[in-house]
Amino acid sequence: MKIDKFEKRVLIITLSVIGLFIFSLLYAKNKYQTDLPECLPYNKVYTEPKINKLDSTTYQVFSVASMWQFEPGEIYVPVGSEVDFYLTSKDVVHGFNIAQKNVNMMAVYGSINKTTVKFDKPGVYDIVCHEYCGVGHQNMRAQVIVNYPTAK
Ligand code: CUA
Repeated sequence: MKIDKFEKRVLIITLSVIGLFIFSLLYAKNKYQTDLPECLPYNKVYTEPKINKLDSTTYQVFSVASMWQFEPGEIYVPVGSEVDFYLTSKDVVHGFNIAQKNVNMMAVYGSINKTTVKFDKPGVYDIVCHEYCGVGHQNMRAQVIVNYPTAK
């Protein structure tokens, strides 16, 4: 099979761009210690808002988005905690953004997205809905409170 010279060039450029993209993704994952979100098989367990403490610094949060709130709304964890967020929606598509931690996920009805975040410093981390979801969108937020101001 003979490939046209020009077509070959386009193919090489395309593959290089894809390669660069994957490289950047893996580089960012290492450099910023970000976890790539996963999509899990749907399971009703995750539709019940919950905070599970697995041990002193490991937590699971089942976060449920709906018009226009996240449940649980306040998540208290100690410094150094590793938190697995399992995210779903009760209705429309919502966003789930923790800007300080480079977390960017979508809450979608009928699907479960998961990411892991390590909270090394005390503070209040805002969780914000960054996908327009109706009139209450701008008030849709929650907080991760790490040892501050009222540690539990
Ligand atoms: Cu939920 Cu915007």
